[in-house]
Amino acid sequence: MNTPQNTAVWHPVARSADLHPGDNIVAGFAEGQELALWRAADGTAQAWENRCPHRSVRFTLGQVIDNRLACAYHGWQYEAGSGQCASIPAHPAMPAPRNVCAKTFAATEAAGMLWVRLSPEMPTAPAALADAVPTGWHFCRTLTVRAPAGTVREALAQRGLLADATSGAWRGQLGDANTSALVLDAQPRLAFVHLWTDAAPGSAAMQALHTAARSLRGDIEALG
Ligand code: FES
Repeated sequence: MNTPQNTAVWHPVARSADLHPGDNIVAGFAEGQELALWRAADGTAQAWENRCPHRSVRFTLGQVIDNRLACAYHGWQYEAGSGQCASIPAHPAMPAPRNVCAKTFAATEAAGMLWVRLSPEMPTAPAALADAVPTGWHFCRTLTVRAPAGTVREALAQRGLLADATSGAWRGQLGDANTSALVLDAQPRLAFVHLWTDAAPGSAAMQALHTAARSLRGDIEALG
């Protein structure tokens, strides 16, 4: 049975649509952990510590080459899935060292989002994550709020949104638009709020939701 506790540790770090197979690397955060998010050419989403195990250069400076992530500095390449070093271009005849491995985190995709779990335990992602955003709803925006995630959740509750115990989403109305808010605890004083709605893109209701989101952020940050 899924509980709020075991869904809460899956962090909604990025939109699935923002990760293109074999292409870009997206920077992310969860609980202060800096992440490199990318999608291998075979489509599998990856969430890695944003640090090359060779000399600690950020992976987000590198590039995706098929199913590998290549560091920008010396070009060492690491396999999707395992994070295992697979190639050192400066020494093509030398076997890649088996003890060099990028730190990887469990990742899953549900409700149009990439979710990451930082804990080394690897339980199956709760099926309830798929219910975080109702089918057919549209992405509105990701709101950056300079405040702890807990403060953001309190503000959502004060506006009448209710936490869904199984998916972790906050449901209700912002700017009179039906809204599902996914709160990401990025850093101690930085949260991201992914807003989804059934309002049509470009509609007055969507614009009202944008306005309400900016107001929400202003009110939260004014608390200091
Ligand atoms: S720092 Fe990444 S390959 Fe050297």
